[in-house]
Amino acid sequence: MESHEDNKRPACIRSWKPKAGIVLGSGLGGFVESMDVFEVIDYVQLEGVPAAGVNGHEGKLVYGSVGGVDVVAAQGRCHLYEGFSPKEVTEIVSVIAALEAELVILTNAAGSLNEDFKVGNWMQISDHLNLTGTSPLLGQGHFLDMSAAYSPHLRERFSRAAKSDGITLYEGIYAGMLGPQYETPAEIRMLKSLGADAVGMSTVLEAIQARALGLEVAGFSCLTNPAAGMGHSHLDHEEVLNVGKQAAGDMVQLLLSVLRDMG
Ligand code: HPA
Repeated sequence: MESHEDNKRPACIRSWKPKAGIVLGSGLGGFVESMDVFEVIDYVQLEGVPAAGVNGHEGKLVYGSVGGVDVVAAQGRCHLYEGFSPKEVTEIVSVIAALEAELVILTNAAGSLNEDFKVGNWMQISDHLNLTGTSPLLGQGHFLDMSAAYSPHLRERFSRAAKSDGITLYEGIYAGMLGPQYETPAEIRMLKSLGADAVGMSTVLEAIQARALGLEVAGFSCLTNPAAGMGHSHLDHEEVLNVGKQAAGDMVQLLLSVLRDMG
């Protein structure tokens, strides 16, 4: 009989041995172009992983090597706001953990709440506010320590790489909202008063699940727009995708530098 672990490692990926998993957010799917690709599968081949749907999210798991390190890149994710459960949203992270990766890198697109942060740049997540009202650990009675959820050691590595590559990399707190609507200006003022530097609709549940499964976590927000009420234009998904695509080069460079260093 197959064990629970084997269910998450269907035959098609059982031989994969990535050191790191990378979850690619809106507009970042192009990261795989910098990979030396060994194999690609569709999410539909993975039981329990919903095929991601929203524009900019493709639903493929790509196994390959970057800078001499074997990685698995999740191209596209599903979200609570699409009606998926916390378990479904985090299933791809469970697959990455079942492949015995040591770390997971979560990327997303986010609105910026920090006046000092320039749109089009990246923010490394130092901590988060889970404001989705839910958790992938519901029903498990698992009192997980979240006091250093985003690995201080990985943060240090990425900060060093950014400095030496001349890439702007801010650090700050990510607020994870349910969505799918963008926030109101009043909500943004509330989030600012809570200490948030960036706001988005993903990542927090994945970070919780990853920590519960013993993975080290790094998280990055591509600041695609000023948060509601902080810029002059209205918020638009196309704009988010376009800025994400332009900023992707910086993230690819950072990942290459850090992974090479680990290899
Ligand atoms: N709010 C929430 N999610 C987002 C935003 C935003 O301003 N930009 C990109 N994703």
